[in-house]
Amino acid sequence: MRKVITYGTFDLLHYGHINLLRRAKEQGDYLIVALSTDEFNWDEKQKKCYFSYEKRKMLLEAIRYVDLVIPENNWDQKVTDIAEFKVDCFVMGDDWKGQFDFVKETGAEVVYLERTPEISTSQIKKDLHEKNK
Ligand code: CTP
Repeated sequence: MRKVITYGTFDLLHYGHINLLRRAKEQGDYLIVALSTDEFNWDEKQKKCYFSYEKRKMLLEAIRYVDLVIPENNWDQKVTDIAEFKVDCFVMGDDWKGQFDFVKETGAEVVYLERTPEISTSQIKKDLHEKNK
């Protein structure tokens, strides 16, 4: 069985996320999503989530492409996750292109998938804010 892993926040789940998860799953048979915790988002990415970790996890677990959700607590866990879960393929959106090439040293394939244009959690928040002015 070929295992795939991807990392992200996935707040206010949208069709760009679904496209990413569908294509990530197509890279193998079993998809693990390492979901950024609220603490990691705040401390490291300066992002405040609308939905809590538990709610974001519940939403991801309801998606047919997702087999397992684990917490992402820090930037450095990728190499240990890949070893622990025997991952064959590491997938990220191409907004991260080149930034995780070091993961290849684990032996896993590194794939950057094209982002879906014109949609992001930040854009949704901004648009709603504008509309409600
Ligand atoms: N993603 C994508 N296409 C989009 C938005 C996100 O392929 N239009 C991918 C990202 O590249 C990443 C994953 O979905 O691999 C999770 O992205 P995340 O940062 O949680 O979502 P964004 O909508 O980009 O959120 P933000 O605006 O807060 O950065």
